[in-house]
Amino acid sequence: MVTNDVLYVGVDDKDIDLFEGQFAVPNGIAYNSYVILDDKIAVMDTVDRRKKDAYLENLEKALCGKCPDYLVVSHVEPDHASSVKAFLEKYPSATVVGNAKTFQMLALYFDLDFSNALTVKEGDILSLGKHELSFVMAPMVHWPEVMLTYDSFDKILFSADAFGKFGALNAQEPWDDEAARYYFNIVGKFGMPVQTVLKKAATLDIQIICPLHGPVLKENLSYYLDKYNIWSSYAPEKEGVFIAFASLHGNTAGAAGKLAEILREKGCPEAATLDLARDDMADALAKAFRYGKIVLAASSYNGGVMPYMEFFLHYLKGKNFQKRQVALIENGSWAPSAKKTMTDILSQMNSITITEPSVTIRGAVKEENIKELEALADELMK
Ligand code: FEO
Repeated sequence: MVTNDVLYVGVDDKDIDLFEGQFAVPNGIAYNSYVILDDKIAVMDTVDRRKKDAYLENLEKALCGKCPDYLVVSHVEPDHASSVKAFLEKYPSATVVGNAKTFQMLALYFDLDFSNALTVKEGDILSLGKHELSFVMAPMVHWPEVMLTYDSFDKILFSADAFGKFGALNAQEPWDDEAARYYFNIVGKFGMPVQTVLKKAATLDIQIICPLHGPVLKENLSYYLDKYNIWSSYAPEKEGVFIAFASLHGNTAGAAGKLAEILREKGCPEAATLDLARDDMADALAKAFRYGKIVLAASSYNGGVMPYMEFFLHYLKGKNFQKRQVALIENGSWAPSAKKTMTDILSQMNSITITEPSVTIRGAVKEENIKELEALADELMK
């Protein structure tokens, strides 16, 4: 139960291997849906059809034999809208509420008959009785049709994907890391649209945030709003250095580890390392955005850079990575080429500063390289 009138009817998905076909979710994911019980009854979104049966069961229990009057579709992505058809088969009298884009997008994915449809736009109000729902358009957060809904009675913001996280509802994990991994990998490219929506949200008296994934947020909301403000403005959140490496024979990994050790000795608040070949690429992306200073350490390969690093850099570029200080460590036995390739890709991003001196290792890490790592650590500590 979210409030006396608002019930949670979502489901956990702990069977999914990769969310959106690419993101590891070791603790599963929650597809959230809510019911608002008033003179009229509204259901806020459905769930992924993977969990359709459990969802319809939850819904039936919450409705206690009543029929919903409205289904509000905040977001058409199939992890939320792929049970709309099953919902309408069960409750054919319900009116589907969305904006003009919602219905265009639904038609791209699902064969649906919208004999009962209500098209809303920014600021429109739908009265359920004492609960009045107003609609806040949130285009490109992170799809074009996304809209948020504000319930002025319980002061709830139904926030679509915003403020969501990976992990089933009962996952015992801090909100920040899985929310950041979710945000940067799924929404991160769209900082400006998120900033626009945060400005709209600032005009509302919000006491509860009901996202489409992760827990309902009821306390200390400024904490979550601040995180979203930092993340969407591409400002660094964490002090310290993030070192991502791609290493052929372990020497580059050794250099990355040595640099982390030196940084810690020099009092760096955090020096996090991550192996791009073995660790989670989505975690690497989130860390790159959360830290202000990044070190990329990679072996040369095929006259360029090791493929895991090349992928990582292109992934960062695609996600609008910007405003960061980046240092480079390359390894190359006979023709080092990693630094040039990394620099070329970084030069295609906005406001990236390359920290000098870069370090070039020829094979194994030698005494002179340790000195270079010391010098690099000094630069990073400035
Ligand atoms: Fe949770 Fe963009 O879907």
